[in-house]
Amino acid sequence: MSSSTGPILAGPGLAGSGIPAEGTAPGQPKATRKLLIRTWGCQMNVYDSGRMADILAPLGYAPTERPEEADMVILNTCHIREKASEKVFSDLGRLRETKKERAAEGRQTIIAVAGCVAQAEGAEITTRAPWVDIVLGPQTYHRLPEMVARASRAAGAVIETDFPAEDKFDHLPEVRAPQGPVAFLTIQEGCDKFCSFCVVPYTRGAEFSRPAAAIIAEARQLASNGAREIALLGQNVNAWAGDSPDGKNWRLARLLRELAEIPGVARLRYTTSHPRDMDDDLIAAHGEIPSLMPYLHLPVQSGSDKVLVAMNRGHKADLYFRLADRLREARPDLALTSDFIVGHPGETPADFDATMKLVERVGFAGAYSFKYSARPGTPAASQPFTVAETDKDSRLQTLQALLRQQQDDFNRACVGRVVDVLITGTGRHPGQVAGRSPWLQPVHASGAAPVGAVVPMKLQAANPNSLSATFLPENPTSDPLAHEESAAA
Ligand code: 5AD
Ligand code: SF4
Repeated sequence: MSSSTGPILAGPGLAGSGIPAEGTAPGQPKATRKLLIRTWGCQMNVYDSGRMADILAPLGYAPTERPEEADMVILNTCHIREKASEKVFSDLGRLRETKKERAAEGRQTIIAVAGCVAQAEGAEITTRAPWVDIVLGPQTYHRLPEMVARASRAAGAVIETDFPAEDKFDHLPEVRAPQGPVAFLTIQEGCDKFCSFCVVPYTRGAEFSRPAAAIIAEARQLASNGAREIALLGQNVNAWAGDSPDGKNWRLARLLRELAEIPGVARLRYTTSHPRDMDDDLIAAHGEIPSLMPYLHLPVQSGSDKVLVAMNRGHKADLYFRLADRLREARPDLALTSDFIVGHPGETPADFDATMKLVERVGFAGAYSFKYSARPGTPAASQPFTVAETDKDSRLQTLQALLRQQQDDFNRACVGRVVDVLITGTGRHPGQVAGRSPWLQPVHASGAAPVGAVVPMKLQAANPNSLSATFLPENPTSDPLAHEESAAA
């Protein structure tokens, strides 16, 4: 089992297709075909799914959720979670039947497997599931139109999982479908850190930073399409070091300062970060850029120095303590969230205690915690000092109880405060709006406000899945940059 410790704070594992609502973006050909994208894993994958939908829109593909009407199905996979490939293969088994039924009606179905499982398993997929037409790794999405054309002609699968020298970002379309008030923007890919347990360096390749000018242009476009909150994404997002318009090389803090100037951008976030790359300027930026949200996902994995060394994390617990203190000095309302692994090879009860002590000392507003599970090909997978499953189970339970308690405390401490809420849509009940707080908590309130408005609200109660809030009596809902339509009747 691997799980998050609670539902209120959205973390790094957001799932969803990332495909815009039914229909075609302005200026694109009439939709004549249907595309289903299923997405597993992190926000990077959600972003990639959105980009694949953008790339295929000019070919006439409009999104659908229903496999039986899909002319093309893309499974965008993630290898970080346990048993990822089995889940993909069982989905492929069901799609084989749908493909057969559609073929009997004379309709073609192109099936593609993308993402990290595709990267790691490559040709193995088409051997085990010969009805798959396309296998593509994360570095080759820009070649999708060509692959689709080849697949619709070809007998036999098209496989593209190399790491090409060219930059995949250069080939992605400029026009991005409207994403709503919250948008994701990938600025960095890959990882050179080689943590003992992790497949990412093998599946996503070396660290690569997009140039600042391209990121700024994309952010401007997102803002003009209505994005009010932009989340910068990267496997090691705070390792970003990109070419800048002034011919220099910027680090993330400088980029954030630039993005904060874009009209309409009310909120900025970035995820996922590594403690080693939290430089002084980035820490200072948290105190200096008002639109940089007071929320940081900073995985630590373990509180034991011995385990951190075994994990090849490149820092000790003390660095994490210092970072937490300095970040909170810069931005006192900053909420920290993290990832933890229990039962890494060699982890003793004393090592696990050190993790519990770290959690007690730092205090987290949310976290994801996992039992270690071996990923073939990673250094930890060949280590002999394994921890018994029963010990992993009990450690995970103990850790999650503390993390859940901290998360509940954090949410309850918010009650009574007046905070800015970004309106994202309608609530579950009639007459309600839904939105998110600066700390990514889902918020709902009775009343009406335009989607995209940032509205001060008083938080009234912490429920299991969200916070309830009320508008302030003076009803300050006239944010000039909000969308036209109203989120609630
Ligand atoms: N076992 C357990 N958890 C893992 N993670 C990555 N690889 C493994 C593994 N082999 C967790 C880490 C990482 C998060 C995205 O997934 O905590 O930060
Ligand atoms: Fe994986 Fe470590 Fe790189 Fe994060 S920093 S992606 S855990 S290798």
